[in-house]
Amino acid sequence: MADFHLNERNVVELGSGPPMVFAHGFPLDHSMWDAQIEEFGKTHHVIAPDLRGFGESESVDVVSHMWHFADEIALILEQGLNVQEPVTFCGLSMGGYIALEFWKRHPDKVKTLILCDTKAAADSDDAKHTREENAQRVMREGPGFLADAMPEKLFSKKTLRENPEVVEQTQAVMRATSPIGIASALRGMATREDFTDHLAQISVPTLLICGEDDIITPVTEMQSMANRIPNSRLAVIPGAGHMAPLEQPEAVNQVIREFLGAEK
Ligand code: MLT
Repeated sequence: MADFHLNERNVVELGSGPPMVFAHGFPLDHSMWDAQIEEFGKTHHVIAPDLRGFGESESVDVVSHMWHFADEIALILEQGLNVQEPVTFCGLSMGGYIALEFWKRHPDKVKTLILCDTKAAADSDDAKHTREENAQRVMREGPGFLADAMPEKLFSKKTLRENPEVVEQTQAVMRATSPIGIASALRGMATREDFTDHLAQISVPTLLICGEDDIITPVTEMQSMANRIPNSRLAVIPGAGHMAPLEQPEAVNQVIREFLGAEK
């Protein structure tokens, strides 16, 4: 596994073959994809950045819009790694918002999309308000309160009961995340555009993945996304919540493998 730095962005790379980008959720880092990095690094050129303000990537003290993240990934591919061919872009939740933005801004760089536990709708006014409260609180107190509160929403009851290690590792990542990085991304997510009306224009093959017990972006919401994307299908992962790739890595890898096999 290689670590590559472009303008203070940490990017984990593994393998060779068709390029595959993994964009993590909030407030996490590339390590949420460890099982996918290991599996698809056997057959693909896997590229898993720590998005700015997360993991080992530097923070920037401005709003991190989804298009900032998308454009940075385009730059990493083009200038940092000299990846010229279109990629499979896989993103979870916030990473999914970034995947959609990447498709819109860099359509020629996308071969296929994998959208995990994410949504197309913009934030409601209430959600925007809560994000701003959390942004101010994280700057005052640090990320501990998020690490304490988020697992209940992120993980299925089964994972909370049977896999405490995964929950604790995720909390440790959150606790180590920079408050500025978290606040910048919260404000960026609050300003993201509604993608619902763009979904019908997505012409690349698209796999949607949703944990059956996801309460943040539920199956019904992802099914209505899939209904709007012409060449798409939704895979529902039993026993998983919002963090399906981390909670049920084998089942998620299996549906991704089948999708990649069909789209060769
Ligand atoms: C995530 O998992 O990335 C978050 O749930 C995204 C969000 O807060 O909208």
